[in-house]
Amino acid sequence: MTRMIRIFDTTLRDGEQSPGASMNIEEKLLVAKQLARLNVDIIEAGFAFSSPGDFDAIHRIAQEVEGPMICSLARAKPEDIDRAWEALQGAPKCRIHTFLSSSDIHLKHQFRMTRDEALTRAVEMVRHARSYVTDVEYSPMDATRSDLSYLCEVVEAVVEAGASTVNIPDTVGYTTPQEFGELIRTLCERIRDKGAIISVHCHNDLGLAVANSMAAIHAGAGQVECTVNGIGERAGNASLEEIAMGLRTRKDFYQADTQIHTEEISKSSRLVSNITGMVVQPNKAIVGANAFAHTSGIHQDGLLKDKNTYEIMNPQSIGLTESRSVMGKLSGRHAFREELSKLGYTLSDQELQEAFERFKRLADQKKELFEEDLEAIVNRAATKVPERFSLKGLQVKSGFNEPPSATVELLMNGQLASQTGTGDGPVDAVYRTIATLTETKSHLRAYIVKAITGGTDAQGEVSVRVEENGAVVTGHGSDTDIIMASASAQAYLNALNKLADLVERHARAEQKIGLC
Ligand code: KIV
Ligand code: ZN
Repeated sequence: MTRMIRIFDTTLRDGEQSPGASMNIEEKLLVAKQLARLNVDIIEAGFAFSSPGDFDAIHRIAQEVEGPMICSLARAKPEDIDRAWEALQGAPKCRIHTFLSSSDIHLKHQFRMTRDEALTRAVEMVRHARSYVTDVEYSPMDATRSDLSYLCEVVEAVVEAGASTVNIPDTVGYTTPQEFGELIRTLCERIRDKGAIISVHCHNDLGLAVANSMAAIHAGAGQVECTVNGIGERAGNASLEEIAMGLRTRKDFYQADTQIHTEEISKSSRLVSNITGMVVQPNKAIVGANAFAHTSGIHQDGLLKDKNTYEIMNPQSIGLTESRSVMGKLSGRHAFREELSKLGYTLSDQELQEAFERFKRLADQKKELFEEDLEAIVNRAATKVPERFSLKGLQVKSGFNEPPSATVELLMNGQLASQTGTGDGPVDAVYRTIATLTETKSHLRAYIVKAITGGTDAQGEVSVRVEENGAVVTGHGSDTDIIMASASAQAYLNALNKLADLVERHARAEQKIGLC
């Protein structure tokens, strides 16, 4: 009998805790809608108490995303749980996930609580969450470094108090597959026939997050927590695509599978990578650029004779198809809308209008447009922020005997302004000039360039990470211009617009709290 393992996706919560991976509300909504297409069982949409931005994102996702159960994280404190419940209003299916550490290291040094106090708090908070929802998850944080008999006591007590899922986190990525498998087998045995399931949440500090999760599934876990591309705190979380494909490919061994629509994996990976600016390493399992590339002569020879010789999964199963040229300069709005709907996007009239204008501009520069080009256009339209700064003109000069210089013309709050400046290279000249014109106090933390498709007229995409007073945003720009000056300028301005938007949203939220 094949057991169905629940996929609890935490890309928008633990994943967003990766340094530099912060997303704004529109971006989170776009990811959540894609997670729904991927058919995950539960979306952990954020940590409602942590910030007004997280609260609003969970609330919008609860109201707008259909299919998966929506969950908010909450510390084991009444005010956190109340806030999670408020944020989840409107979700047809919702869960509160509350947590407190169980290891002596955490209890003694961080929480300054005794084991008994932590146990009592855990039980009270599960009961508190149950007064709002029937679906409550409890996590004893740092479970893998906790005393086994105390951990068993906690797990049994929270199940008794009404938790329907007990998640066992390997918070610091310390455990090994053999050890974790045994732990999960013991815990499953302890709560057998109590109607609750054991979940696992593994971090990748020793590169074992997926192996540990798979060992736990083999030992009886019924839910696994993971993220797209394995993003997450420090070295990340277990990667969703590796677990889903691992189970699908080795169903014979694990006797388990998931409900994941694997053909959506590739698209989900590209979306998360584009939005967060976190590039996927080429040799990453399943979604790396080389994951299905066979270069050795012997392998190619075998594949030509029979695919089964060297291919354990086929690229189509994760939604990878030969890049198809889908549209060109002469394609009209109707064909554009049709093509987008085939890719799974439904846009409002306003979004469609903006995306179509962008498409027309790009089609003037580029002979053929591929699916990836359309995705880049649509994602940009859906995550647009109000433009305080927009690029109206750009000229870059770079020669042998003169320092690189840039003349930038911006529309800033309705006024045109222009400035010329120099830099160490053309992009540096563009950035310095924009920084002077906008008087930004932010710092550029990362600059990443990549080609969206192949060919010399390919769109290049620039992602930048910009930080001001601890707030980090990622800006994107794309263009066909080969030295990337325009895409770089767009990416920088997009990040500055997002920063301004963030500051304004925070001010509005603080005002709201002040008024209550
Ligand atoms: O890693 C961890 O322990 C967590 C918990 C909040 C589940 O993310
Ligand atoms: Zn975690």
